[in-house]
Amino acid sequence: MNKKIIITIIVFLLLIGGIFIFVNQNKSFEEKLKDIGYSDKEAKEISNLVSEEDENIILNNEYNDDLINILNSKNYKDDNLKLYLEYASNNKKADTNAIINIVNLDLTDYEYSDFLGELAGQKYFIKNNLDRYLKYDSDDAEKTVKEVNCNLDYDYYENTKETNTDDDNLMLVNKYYYLTEDYEPDDLVTLDSTYNMGTNNQMRKVAADAFMKMADAARLDNITIKNASGYRSYEYQVTLYNDYVKRDGKQAADTYSARAGYSEHQTGLVSDINQIEDAFENTDAFKWLSENSYKYGFILRFPKDKENLTGYKYEPWHYRYVGTKAAKIIHDEDLTLEEYYAYYIQND
Ligand code: DAL
Ligand code: ZN
Repeated sequence: MNKKIIITIIVFLLLIGGIFIFVNQNKSFEEKLKDIGYSDKEAKEISNLVSEEDENIILNNEYNDDLINILNSKNYKDDNLKLYLEYASNNKKADTNAIINIVNLDLTDYEYSDFLGELAGQKYFIKNNLDRYLKYDSDDAEKTVKEVNCNLDYDYYENTKETNTDDDNLMLVNKYYYLTEDYEPDDLVTLDSTYNMGTNNQMRKVAADAFMKMADAARLDNITIKNASGYRSYEYQVTLYNDYVKRDGKQAADTYSARAGYSEHQTGLVSDINQIEDAFENTDAFKWLSENSYKYGFILRFPKDKENLTGYKYEPWHYRYVGTKAAKIIHDEDLTLEEYYAYYIQND
């Protein structure tokens, strides 16, 4: 009986002692914060926000009137606290978000500017493109990141590169990335008349399978979807483009037709659907595709109002197979393939 009481008293005393030490330690951190200039209120709030390790970092730095905002920032990373504080004390003009983003992206060697902070805060920021962003002729950070990621700091057909065909379904073919004259996919299949209505009736197997699945699903909703132009060879595109140039002149032809090697029809991953004309936009088939094509891995490749990013006029009929994972992201985030490719594929 006695023993039990003694043990209870000892446990009780240890508990009280523990609480006393804990409270005292906290208090002493708060006191130290006040010594370097934090107000009572700030000190209390900071001590509630930080771990023991952070306490020393904070105490080893000068007073920072942004500290609470830094600690509460949604992009705050505990491991970077020391760097945030150093960066803040070297760049008094920098605001909280700029500090957090610049440090998180390891851009502290760049000279601080508000624009650098804005660039670093962009969702699709690519570190490898930073020098090009800074040189680009715009003070709008979002526009700069978007356009430079799509290579618009170069003129179309300037600085072109052979595309990486290892990217497979995601290979980018546009006015900067081309396929060589001899590139021909080795798995082209022919669509029958249930799914096709034109002379260019081939697609790569993966795209053809997805296309047929999509057309079957559309049919259940009483919508007819047929391929009007799929795979086109390099030679075919030479003739097509030259005919357009003869008809409308080079400048106009370049707004709607790709030069040979630069047409993604050569990938075998494309289908022009039903009607190759603007009026296709007003059909039920177009509406159905707008709502459903991404579920089968197809994206509207040349959307309205994105002409400068894709390099082509709006083409409501031209769908590109990219696989369901990419198509969903492109659809949900309202991206072009150019933007997706730069950020999600090249940036990896
Ligand atoms: N009309 C598209 C851009 C092409 O020629 O590939
Ligand atoms: Zn097309």
